Amino acid sequence: MARIPERFLWGVATAAYQIEGAVDEDGRGPSVWDTFCHAPGKIRDGHTGDVACDHYHRWREDVGLIASLGAGAYRFSIAWPRIQPDGRGLVNAAGLDFYDRLVDVLAERGVAACPTLFHWDLPQPLEDNGGWLDRDTAYRFADYAAVVAERIGDRARMWITLNEPYIVMALGYGLGMHAPGRTLLLGALPAAHHQLLGHGLAVAALRDHGAGEVAITNAYSPTEPETDSAADVTAAAAYDTLMNRVFTDPVLLGRYPDLSAFPDADLSFVRDGDLKVISAPIDALGVNYYFPTRLRTLPDSPLPFEMCAYPEAPATAFGWPVVPEGLHRLLGLLRDRYPGLPPIYVTENGCSYDDMPDAAGRVADPDRIAYLDGHIKAVRQAMDDGIDVRGYFVWSLLDNFEWSEGYHQRFGLVHVDYATQRRTPKSSYAWYRDLIADGRAG
Ligand code: FCB
Repeated sequence: MARIPERFLWGVATAAYQIEGAVDEDGRGPSVWDTFCHAPGKIRDGHTGDVACDHYHRWREDVGLIASLGAGAYRFSIAWPRIQPDGRGLVNAAGLDFYDRLVDVLAERGVAACPTLFHWDLPQPLEDNGGWLDRDTAYRFADYAAVVAERIGDRARMWITLNEPYIVMALGYGLGMHAPGRTLLLGALPAAHHQLLGHGLAVAALRDHGAGEVAITNAYSPTEPETDSAADVTAAAAYDTLMNRVFTDPVLLGRYPDLSAFPDADLSFVRDGDLKVISAPIDALGVNYYFPTRLRTLPDSPLPFEMCAYPEAPATAFGWPVVPEGLHRLLGLLRDRYPGLPPIYVTENGCSYDDMPDAAGRVADPDRIAYLDGHIKAVRQAMDDGIDVRGYFVWSLLDNFEWSEGYHQRFGLVHVDYATQRRTPKSSYAWYRDLIADGRAG
């Protein structure tokens, strides 16, 4: 395999609600995740992001961990409710100050800042007006993007507009497993379109403010049928369309994929000109990959598929199958599907395991090292195939609040003791540091 080029960006990723805590401080307003976590029975063991990793107060220590890793880039998200507590209008200066200081210190430490504008923490007042089901939210998002770009745009290396809009649509509005907890099934499709419209409008707003690289980050999972029966093949294709195409075809091809596999799918809310806005050129595509999905048919259902187990692959603590080849396959699929594919950054990849400090205070996490090693090799293979991958971000720097799983899934290179907020780098942290230092060889 060829060496990974020197300019390849090695990074780590986090998201605001998962690490910051301080939900009531310095003028931050409530987000849909605050509301969802405080509703009984939504999150495992009633956990909330109220304190999380207390990063809002400990961010300097966390930047120190990123710098000591030798990472070239840090992908973090900006909490919209810190910037605009109402989701519109009035800007909260303290919120902007927080991220302004963060990007300054990242720059001092030689770490490129890669802010994500929306990693799921929608201001609750916007949700009260329909959230992403409401077209107006797209325009509010673009206004917010402009406010943030005006302040930190000079120091942002790469902007990511949205994180995984598929998950917001599917788990947030379709199945009710994530905030805001709606169960609309395919009635959630407006939330897809309005997020995409918000993305396109935000791209324009960012460009107006001199942004350099602009990207969108999508969740991808290469699919496969459980058997080679025509029905299972159709089921796998339907899931592939919904997860892998609905949020990428409009951006890269300027049109929605064929949704005829879903009898209830209705795109009547798409207005003339929307797809032109959505398909404004982007500089990079953010790819989040965790595992592939195997499917079988589920006749007479609005969602005509069912997920199957992956018995032959090892599983993480989350039960997610470990299939590094899936990342190689996915990158090839994107290349084949999109002729003008922009450069790719793997903006998330990682795994949860329960490793805890031993008596000497060390955390050995060999399974994480194996996972990362396998997936980084898959990236190298894709690069050898000629695919333009420019960076790789481990999810995550720290153990953190894993959405509906609360604090049960630990994805960090750094262990967090939530009782004391003590950070302990795991053996994977040292492994990744050495990999970055060793001529970025992988
Ligand atoms: C992704 C999310 C991220 C994290 C990982 C494990 O879907 O973008 O916030 O929770 O999964």
